[in-house]
Amino acid sequence: MVVNVPVLPKRPGSGKLAMDPAIRAEFPMLRRLVHDMPMVYLDSASTSLKPRSVLEAIRFYHEEITANVHRSTHPLGEAATLHYEGARGCVAQFLGGRPDELVFVRNTTEAINLVAMGLGLKEEDEILITPLEHHSNQLPWLTRARVVYLPLDAAGLPDEELLEGLITPRTRLLAVSLLSNITGARGHMKTWREVASRHGIPLLLDASQAAGHMGIDVATLGCDFLAFSGHKVCGPTGIGALWARRERLEKMAPTLLGGGMVHTSRLDGYSLKEPPWCFEAGTPNVEGALGLAAALEFLSSLGMDEVAEHSLALGRRLKEGLAPLARLRLLAPGAGDRYGIASFTVDVPGLSAEAFGRLMADSYGILLSAGRHCTHPYHDMLGLEATVRASTHVYTTSDEVEVFLAATRQLVG
Ligand code: ALA
Repeated sequence: MVVNVPVLPKRPGSGKLAMDPAIRAEFPMLRRLVHDMPMVYLDSASTSLKPRSVLEAIRFYHEEITANVHRSTHPLGEAATLHYEGARGCVAQFLGGRPDELVFVRNTTEAINLVAMGLGLKEEDEILITPLEHHSNQLPWLTRARVVYLPLDAAGLPDEELLEGLITPRTRLLAVSLLSNITGARGHMKTWREVASRHGIPLLLDASQAAGHMGIDVATLGCDFLAFSGHKVCGPTGIGALWARRERLEKMAPTLLGGGMVHTSRLDGYSLKEPPWCFEAGTPNVEGALGLAAALEFLSSLGMDEVAEHSLALGRRLKEGLAPLARLRLLAPGAGDRYGIASFTVDVPGLSAEAFGRLMADSYGILLSAGRHCTHPYHDMLGLEATVRASTHVYTTSDEVEVFLAATRQLVG
């Protein structure tokens, strides 16, 4: 048996991603019809479609190397362990980090909960976040510390100018999204990094939306923690990653206890394994880890600069097409670069966001997201009941965006 420890291929951008039909051919779901119409999938911020290589990695585990990892002393167990640890190396490499700083988790939510529980927070500690954070980066802090929100500016974006003034001796962490799942705007990374570093405050980045749309390098980003989910980067559900600086990981207490995370367990005690393994209690999601590595290999083979360029181009077109419509209000219209996402409300009596979403699906085969997109606080601040969100990925074509814009003009133009 050939044991393949993946190494991510790097390819310079060719400027062809948006036009490359070979990319779409890799995604079996794109053959799907919706009410006999070609599907236009614009709900990738909820979850992304998966290329064949991801499905193949999962099949490979189940059909060829099913075994538990770090436990079995037989060839299948050894192969499964090698592939699992190879996947860890692959994910760490994608982020520019080290494998011993990479913990496999279920998703961003679990990753951030792990940090929130592992930091030993006290009620009076303060966690600084923005009102744009999705629930994964809000709820884990709410019950354990005092959450301080960075106010929004006139454009509906976090006001970076006010960050420094909110830091107090009790601030324990700055926890912000690298890319908003609702506006598609990139966070003010330079400010986050500089202010956090000047005050010696650790920086946690929620990269669940960013990881599938731009190259990530934890050293350049200057973060201490970074979390993302597999299912938004064309990988499987139920797998994600927490990267943490080694010294941070070493200071965190594991919160789940069980098989696989101890060296020994005696009648009256136990000795923990080193990080990252002490954070992975129980049998892990081995096929998920292999699938995630395959997804990141797929994205890397396209070239992450190319992926970002494509996402930005679609984001620009969404904004250009939606902003002029009089009966539609685009969220954060002032956001500069917008990565393949646009959220809006429609001002047509009797047409709620949900009804608009349903109509687009039933009349045009266009799948959008309608609701609050796990960002209830942001909607509350803007006084909005719900919004419609169109979100793209590497397989989205500019033609699909035009189909969506034309349908939107028909409904609210
Ligand atoms: N947080 C995910 C979203 O943006 C699920 O829809």
